[in-house]
Amino acid sequence: MGNRKVLVTGGAGYIGSHTVVELFQAGYTPVILDDFSNSDKKTINRINKILNTEVKFFEGDCGNEDYLEKIFLLEKDISGVIHFAASKAVAESVQNPLKYYDNNVGSMISLLKVMNRSDINCLVFSSSCTVYGNSAEQPVRETSPVLPAESPYGNTKHVCEQIIRDFSFSKESFKALSLRYFNPIGAHPSALIGELPIGTPANLVPYISQTAAGIREELTVFGNDYNTPDGTCVRDYIHVIDLAKAHIRALDYIFQNKSAGYDVINCGTGKGNTVLEVIKTFEKVNNLMVNYSIGTRRPGDVEAIYSNVDKAKDLIGWQSSLTLEDALRDAWKWEQTLQK
Ligand code: UD1
Repeated sequence: MGNRKVLVTGGAGYIGSHTVVELFQAGYTPVILDDFSNSDKKTINRINKILNTEVKFFEGDCGNEDYLEKIFLLEKDISGVIHFAASKAVAESVQNPLKYYDNNVGSMISLLKVMNRSDINCLVFSSSCTVYGNSAEQPVRETSPVLPAESPYGNTKHVCEQIIRDFSFSKESFKALSLRYFNPIGAHPSALIGELPIGTPANLVPYISQTAAGIREELTVFGNDYNTPDGTCVRDYIHVIDLAKAHIRALDYIFQNKSAGYDVINCGTGKGNTVLEVIKTFEKVNNLMVNYSIGTRRPGDVEAIYSNVDKAKDLIGWQSSLTLEDALRDAWKWEQTLQK
């Protein structure tokens, strides 16, 4: 879909930055909007280094309608938007729910209003498997029930999906896909971009890498008394590069006029791994030991969740191709870059 210009909100973030790289390599022209509230400006230079180009970027808040309007005016021919910009710390969202509704839901509404006024009719939204909650059916399908969210963060993803769906019903030319991510891990194989946790990481793989690097003394495994093969939780860990590629397939699908309106797609590998399997695999592929101990369960954790991937294959022709080993090798390479 050569040369189409796509606005990437949150394009300096973890999944956003990898998607910008993949977009450019697929022939799209990405334009980044980021307020750097949870990302680093250096990421832009690093993206440019990987691509050997200068990707256009705007610094600002995606909830600012005037600013968005200005970007669409300046960058006349933007034909689609990938919307990543959002706050994503589950625990913080419980402490400060209004920040989450304001940032995540507020910016979604602003973006749709401005897209509507500017007649930009293609949207890919960054959603999460968190909408399935503690699902009784595994693997989860897109038709599995959406359960009440465990956190305000999770609820913002569900609410945003509904807002997009309702808006798409009101405007026939508007097409959108919500991608429900499972657990993105790993980093770009160049080790130039990756996840940048601020403070103590909440997520498993950055915590493992930091423990291996000696920044954290010990990793706590949150519970080993779940009803799973080794008692630890099961998740569907997907390489961030594979996930980034799903966005390109989603855009292609919309731009090729294959989309009927609004839809949701699971983005996972289709395979579940336990926390202990992730730790062991990290140790094996990187030839090192991770200091860990078993602790108590983390409140709000679901026992197991992994994806059924049929719809992604059928609808947008996408499936993951990298392995857990690849992702954990790249995660460690990235951690070592951070230490330099
Ligand atoms: C959750 C959400 C996801 C959201 C993400 C944001 C679900 C199913 N997923 O991911 O949508 O985007 O938070 O942060 O609700 N673990 C440890 N020790 C640690 C850290 C994690 O044992 O120090 C375990 C957890 O108990 C869990 C697994 O590792 O079983 C993965 O945890 P994490 O990386 O935080 O992701 P989720 O909680 O699955």
